[in-house]
Amino acid sequence: MSTVLTSTKATTYKFYIKGEWRESKSSQTIDIYSPYSHEVVGKVQAITREEVDEAIHFAHEAQKVWKDISLQERAKYLYAWANELVDMQEEIAEIIMKEVGKSRSDAQKEVIRTAEFIRYTVEEALHMHGESMRGDSFPGGAASKLAIVQRVPLGVVLAVAPFNYPVNLAAAKVAPALMTGNAVIFKPATQGSISGVKMIEALDKSGLPKGLISLVTGRGSIIGDYLVEHDGINMISFTGGTNTGVHLATKAKMIPLVLELGGKDPGIVCDDADLKEAAVQIISGAFSYSGQRCTAIKRVLVHENVADELVKILKAEVEKLSVGSPEHESTIVPLIDKASADFVEGLIDDAIQKGATVVTGNKRERNLIYPTLLDHVTGNMDVAWEEPFGPVVPIIRVKSDEEAIQVANKSEFGLQASIFTKDINRAFAIANKIETGSVQINGRTERGPDHFPFIGVKKSGMGAQGIRKSLESMTREKVTVLNIQ
Ligand code: G3H
Repeated sequence: MSTVLTSTKATTYKFYIKGEWRESKSSQTIDIYSPYSHEVVGKVQAITREEVDEAIHFAHEAQKVWKDISLQERAKYLYAWANELVDMQEEIAEIIMKEVGKSRSDAQKEVIRTAEFIRYTVEEALHMHGESMRGDSFPGGAASKLAIVQRVPLGVVLAVAPFNYPVNLAAAKVAPALMTGNAVIFKPATQGSISGVKMIEALDKSGLPKGLISLVTGRGSIIGDYLVEHDGINMISFTGGTNTGVHLATKAKMIPLVLELGGKDPGIVCDDADLKEAAVQIISGAFSYSGQRCTAIKRVLVHENVADELVKILKAEVEKLSVGSPEHESTIVPLIDKASADFVEGLIDDAIQKGATVVTGNKRERNLIYPTLLDHVTGNMDVAWEEPFGPVVPIIRVKSDEEAIQVANKSEFGLQASIFTKDINRAFAIANKIETGSVQINGRTERGPDHFPFIGVKKSGMGAQGIRKSLESMTREKVTVLNIQ
């Protein structure tokens, strides 16, 4: 069945429920605007609460059967999905580019990374085993007791994906949920919904049993809290902004949550660092996809002895970055919407007004913010603490490793940090004191490889992702005790 309604203007995409593509009974749609062409890329359905109820009902029905289907059988559908994604990579990349303004090559890499993610998820799940425990290993415990500990699915998982990886971060929730025997309600970011439709088209082609996954699109005010508070949802995996994540955590009932939220990852540059290499990593970490990554380097904490030299190298590197359209493979592309660009511009203005120096950048054309380096940033400036999700990097000069650690940890976020030094003992001494989920030594902050645990602490999240962690988070342990007669 076709996903789309043909129209002389923009394409209208349907939502997916019980293995069918449907128009909503609301008869309402949402326009999705391209962040760079500013044209309507397409329209998605604004579905009703009754349709959410239906999707969750079908999910439970399908899950009852799916949970008893063998792992090898589940694997077949997921492998088929991965293959379909590879086959559709150009078509999906085109949509990702138009919808969220990511360069075509990066969008295509996202699709391939997703197929690899799905395959690894299958393989990891196939190799996960429960454990057994003898009763007599505890004082007074009887040798006649044997506990068999297995992992069982949670039921129906609500997967909420962000705009910046509309396919990869969606599949990173859907694949482990399905592989472990759950059903899924997938709610893409509104801007990212069409990419989500394409991803589900690929999954639909795998022949996955009907009802196991629904794609729900709509207005947050109608279906957002409704989904989160719904009695039929047994687990939520969310990636997105911190404010939304915190709100969601207050609304969700007593169900497991995994939240991947914002960050303010520091790049700490010691005075013995290889400054050229550090600069390469900082530029790539900070400016890829215009800094619209939760793991982007969002501040540089540099030892004052090498600050001038580092700033000189960073300036030269930033000025080499291509700026413009994702269709021209630019690194710096327009931000997702006007509000995001306004926010970044506000951070830059605030810093300048409070005495920061513009090393380069500070130019704007609609949603396009030129890559901006701000030096001599101090703690009274918003850009020192706020997450811009845009191409601006504040440079904060520090006198010692202790001061770098103190400034790094003062942030309300705790996703990742990078430390640049040639002294491995120094790197570990700093890393051990940094309050983040991960620390990168002599490399940029980033989530992958995707089987590594990925953890946000403080306002950067709850729970853990990474393939094995995601599989575990979508199951619970169940203990069956054999009392040997
Ligand atoms: O935006 C959040 C993503 O999880 C970051 O992933 O480090 O692969 O860009 P990435």
